[in-house]
Amino acid sequence: MRKKLVAGNWKMHGSLTENAALLAAIKPALDGIEAAVCVPFPYLAQVQASLAGSSISWGAQNVSEQAKGAFTGEVSTAMLRDFGCEYVIVGHSERRSLYGESDELVARKYMAAQAAGLTPILCVGESLSEREGGVTEAVVARQLDAVIAAAGVASLASAVVAYEPVWAIGTGKTATPEQAQAVHAFIRRKLAALDANVAERLIIQYGGSVKAANAAELMAQPDIDGGLIGGASLIADEFIAICRAAAK
Ligand code: PGA
Repeated sequence: MRKKLVAGNWKMHGSLTENAALLAAIKPALDGIEAAVCVPFPYLAQVQASLAGSSISWGAQNVSEQAKGAFTGEVSTAMLRDFGCEYVIVGHSERRSLYGESDELVARKYMAAQAAGLTPILCVGESLSEREGGVTEAVVARQLDAVIAAAGVASLASAVVAYEPVWAIGTGKTATPEQAQAVHAFIRRKLAALDANVAERLIIQYGGSVKAANAAELMAQPDIDGGLIGGASLIADEFIAICRAAAK
């Protein structure tokens, strides 16, 4: 059986004070439950100090594809390792659409993360117009293929994939469990054609307006192995309930 993994994506939210309250609430409540939080860079030291030794891992939301050097404003994989990160989100749709990250750049970030011993959480997903145009599978396949071409299918043994339909992110419009399951099953089938073992073990998270109220039915789908949680990861009771639903 694959384990399930819920990861919070705090996006550009939080403050030292707010984070302290959130961490103080989730840490004891999730004792023994594997989960993760992906936080803004300046708060990595805070989560490292707070979560070390707990069952909650932490990570970042982006990383440079470069190892080091004159790249003003960038943060390297080694720096993330310095702060005990286990995970890094790559290819989030907000990075792709707002910051122009191409499939190829995302693949380079994915490889840099793995080379440093970080587990990339690779986000894929279609926009509303792509879904309405009937190209959801083609878009997701293209995003996956860029990574497979660069890093090989075996690399997915040390990665997490998050399926996040762009139209469901932060909109309150969740994909139905059936819609999400269909794409998750497509991803697993596609990968199984290349490497059945990797496909069977891969954690495929669903992301897009997951909340306590819809988590259980999403997590009950056979190919949904957890979630990548934005807005609801900032609310302690919501995040705790989602993690518990996944752990059931
Ligand atoms: P949301 O965001 O849960 O607020 O929809 C999910 C994500 O963007 O990872």
